[in-house]
Amino acid sequence: MTAVSKQVQVQLGDRSYPIYIGSGEIQRADIASHICGQKVLIVSNETIAPLYLELVEKQLVGKQVDKVILADGEQFKNLDNLNLIFDQLITSHHDRKTTLIALGGGVIGDMTGFAAACYQRGVAFIQIPTTLLAQVDSSVGGKTAVNHAMGKNMIGAFYQPQAVIIDTDTLSTLPDREFNAGLAEVIKYGLIVDADFFVWLENNLEALLNRDQQALAYAVELSCISKSRVVAADETEQGVRAILNLGHTFGHAIETFQQYKDWIHGEAVAAGMVMAAELSVMAGDLCSADLARIKNLLTACSLPIAPPSGMAADDFMRLMVRDKKVLDGQLRLVLLESLGSACVSDQFSTADLDEMLNKTCISV
Ligand code: NAD
Ligand code: GLY
Repeated sequence: MTAVSKQVQVQLGDRSYPIYIGSGEIQRADIASHICGQKVLIVSNETIAPLYLELVEKQLVGKQVDKVILADGEQFKNLDNLNLIFDQLITSHHDRKTTLIALGGGVIGDMTGFAAACYQRGVAFIQIPTTLLAQVDSSVGGKTAVNHAMGKNMIGAFYQPQAVIIDTDTLSTLPDREFNAGLAEVIKYGLIVDADFFVWLENNLEALLNRDQQALAYAVELSCISKSRVVAADETEQGVRAILNLGHTFGHAIETFQQYKDWIHGEAVAAGMVMAAELSVMAGDLCSADLARIKNLLTACSLPIAPPSGMAADDFMRLMVRDKKVLDGQLRLVLLESLGSACVSDQFSTADLDEMLNKTCISV
């Protein structure tokens, strides 16, 4: 265990909470201090539990620790599997003082958070994210949800955790494909709020891809700082928080089109960010040179920069009308004003959108 340990605070008044970041943090952070009652339910999946469940359990001596181990995969992020969490809570007599612990990636985190939001109208929960994507994005900010067959994250709630414990050591077992998908969300922060960070990523990508501990801890910390600032400014996405969804309108359409079975979330977001950037260039905001830098950085992370083959412009239009940013029937998109600055707009040209979709869908 190294001495590196950082703390970022999500400032939300009486619902503020700490994010602990570091190597060996599962052992170092005082998890028990964020648990109010005597009962805990750890929610994990069949891949992560054998790797890290015992480590977490060791920090909970003296508590009644129950577990529910779900099937692994985005296709299991649904109401049926959510019900397995409620079954376990009720069977083991958990009351309002229980605490749920999400041990896993974004799928487990989103499902556990939503279960905590609903169980007996709301109980405490802690996030222990084990993918890069979950460490830099999904575990922070309180968005919880399950998917519906007709749309991603359609059923959910804003519900904040008591604490987020990010142990960067858990990334050592993460497959390359998942690690790279997490980098898409890291790059997102450079694009939407922090141009200097984008440059840092360009200059330090090799260290990150080699999972250098210092580079990783820095990238995770900077990402969490950016995310918590946006969340603190707009917890329930009435305005600015929507910029965190850069590329997601297109990305969610890709995931729904593929029924959550082919590309993983970060890959879909990577292609979606390029599509949003293309549209931003057409709008006369982002310059072509910066679009090329975005494509280069994503490509260097082995991420897609165009929609999957087989997907047509019409598929995007059909699926994007269900996006949660649609208001009063009007599609809104996150666009880049420049590198490091994003806005949410319903003022884009529909002719540009058509042209961009037809161009990118045909080019694959
Ligand atoms: P995931 O949770 O499916 O995890 C990816 C894979 O890695 C899984 O097979 C998992 O079992 C495995 N895994 C996790 N940690 C591991 C480890 N340390 N070692 C080895 N294997 C490990 O996917 P994800 O990318 O973490 O999350 C994607 C989900 O997050 C999507 O459902 C997306 O909608 C959601 N999301 C939510 C938010 C939010 O704000 N709530 C933000 C972004 C994404
Ligand atoms: N991942 C988008 C958000 O948290 O708002």
